[in-house]
Amino acid sequence: MNILVTGGAGYIGSHTCVELLNAGHRVVVFDNFCNSFPEAVRRVETITGKSLALVEGDIRDRAAIEQALRQYQCEAVIHFAGLKAVGESVAKPLEYYDNNVVGTIRLLEAMQATGVKTIVFSSSATVYGMPQFLPYREDHPLSATNPYGRGKIMVEEILRDFHVAQPDSRIALLRYFNPVGAHESGLIGEDPQGVPNNLMPFVTQVAIGKRDRLNIWGGDYETPDGTGVRDYIHVTDLAIGHVKALEYLQKPQCFAVNLGSGQGHSVFDVVKAFEQTSGKNIPYKIEPRRPGDLPAYYADVTLAKSVLDWEATRSLKTMCADSWRWQMNNPNGFRA
Ligand code: NAD
Ligand code: WQD
Repeated sequence: MNILVTGGAGYIGSHTCVELLNAGHRVVVFDNFCNSFPEAVRRVETITGKSLALVEGDIRDRAAIEQALRQYQCEAVIHFAGLKAVGESVAKPLEYYDNNVVGTIRLLEAMQATGVKTIVFSSSATVYGMPQFLPYREDHPLSATNPYGRGKIMVEEILRDFHVAQPDSRIALLRYFNPVGAHESGLIGEDPQGVPNNLMPFVTQVAIGKRDRLNIWGGDYETPDGTGVRDYIHVTDLAIGHVKALEYLQKPQCFAVNLGSGQGHSVFDVVKAFEQTSGKNIPYKIEPRRPGDLPAYYADVTLAKSVLDWEATRSLKTMCADSWRWQMNNPNGFRA
């Protein structure tokens, strides 16, 4: 299948391109590189030994997407492009809604104009908000406390409305939990700009000596060791989930599904697993809770198993080992 991958140069997008190419699909990456580098795409080609097409463009530019969909005769879209920093979304709500919500509308218009009916969307576990029960099942009520999360809920609703109006459309809303890790080759991985917000890149930067210590945001949660609990999922497992979702979208439908490991791990679990696999000591200090953080959440993965025939197979240790290999081989990420 010919597939347009918006945001395909980014962290999850680049890993998904590897799995798509390995599965025999043809890939067109559409990215404006606001949070990525063309080098990531070149490395996807190195890993797979296959070439892909690269279009530099913005998803808010409907004509540019239409042109790419037509030129490469795309049959499906995997839509990663978006801004993803929760704190920044509070400071710049209009930028986030414009990029993430308006951008998706422009993309859907371009798909409609070119007759492309299949889209896989990067949603997030953040759409569940404060847990009313755990593990989160797909029918858990949705709520959000920041513009980033509200944007994800809005796009889910827009896609559901789009499906009602276009019943022959094929739509998967993939709710990712906490993606970490890197491709086993060490050639591609997460490349945050500035100080990382997320736990794993912060830990790897401490290990390599870029940061003195890890600040653990809260040691007094009602969790087994007092630190926050999350469902970490290896980015390669997540990428394979996209290939499975595309295979499943053979018939018209619109469905949401969790992509997580189904297991909760605390911040201390991550630090210990990282220390064991890397042999590095991670100094840390317990700091006050980070505003907006939830104590604990993890996925119910029953639906993904039964519907997509997919489950995460890579352990927390593998996630740490692969993150560390990527960091060691690329101390400055994709920058030379
Ligand atoms: P990323 O920033 O690494 O990748 C996003 C890519 O989209 C980047 O290459 C960026 O340059 C591109 N992009 C952004 N705005 C664009 C625009 N207007 N036009 C064209 N390209 C644009 O992020 P990621 O971690 O790979 O996340 C991918 C998607 O998954 C995002 O939609 C994100 O919200 C979602 N998501 C991520 C996480 C996570 O923790 N990483 C969790 C849940 C959901
Ligand atoms: C994980 C745990 C922190 C950094 C975010 C977004 C979410 C989703 C994924 C897109 C928490 C703790 C972290 C640090 C720490 N993105 N931590 N010190 O907050 O679960 O999710 O990314 O959809 O929407 O909110 O991920 O990696 O930031 O935090 O102690 O320096 O690690 O408190 O318990 P989070 P995270």
